[in-house]
Amino acid sequence: MQPEEINSLIEIPAERSFVSIKATEAAFIYELITSQHLSKTLETGLGFGNSACHILAATGTNHIAIDPFQKDYDYLALKNVAAIGCKDQFDFREDYSHHVLPQLLKEGKQFDFIFIDGDHKFDGILVDFYYADLLLENNGYVLFHDTWMRSTQLVSSFIEKNKNNYVAVDCPLRNFHLFKKVGKDNRDGMHFKEFYTSKSILTYRLITWMTSPGDSWLKRMAIRLKEVLK
Ligand SMILES: C[S@@+](CC[C@H](N)C(=O)[O-])C[C@H]1O[C@@H](n2cnc3c(N)ncnc32)[C@H](O)[C@@H]1O
Repeated sequence: MQPEEINSLIEIPAERSFVSIKATEAAFIYELITSQHLSKTLETGLGFGNSACHILAATGTNHIAIDPFQKDYDYLALKNVAAIGCKDQFDFREDYSHHVLPQLLKEGKQFDFIFIDGDHKFDGILVDFYYADLLLENNGYVLFHDTWMRSTQLVSSFIEKNKNNYVAVDCPLRNFHLFKKVGKDNRDGMHFKEFYTSKSILTYRLITWMTSPGDSWLKRMAIRLKEVLK
């Protein structure tokens, strides 16, 4: 099943579409998985299941997704997965990623594609990456969403500066960061490189201001300008 067909079968409420990855992002995931022949997949953060549906359709096999808050989404992700006919391949873990990821590690599970789109706080993303790194096979990929956020930028920068067993892979979509694991982590216990970055400071401030409560002509103009530029 191709992305166009998936999009025609799944339901994402228009008023909460900001929760979901975009169609271009879903198509990118689909293309990455099919072109690289990836099949052992995992994601943190299910939302309405857009990424899950594209991952499942791309591999045609089992996929694990972790999310403790599906009830806030009326379990629509599960309905969407069923709508594309992948219910039996879907392993949904309704819990926090910091509970499930260590369990998967203990079970000896290994993956070749991990999508991190769950808790978007810095420490939440870093913990997801910490376990993703341990769960990822050599030559596997880890993909981060929402790089407009400072938290995501700082985790990416940590990887770039400290984890020399990862290479950043060029990605045409600016809200994604993609890394490939290329070996073992050989840092010694004293290793540390500063990883501060100023990337996305302005974008992050602007978007959080634009989406904050309260109305003003300046805010309305900025929102209008963003829509026009899109
Ligand atoms: C932006 S949405 C994910 C969107 C989804 N990947 C898609 O395809 O559109 C973020 C999700 O992360 C979930 N989440 C928040 N904290 C989490 C945590 N600690 N562990 C796992 N999921 C979490 C939320 O419930 C929400 O469904």
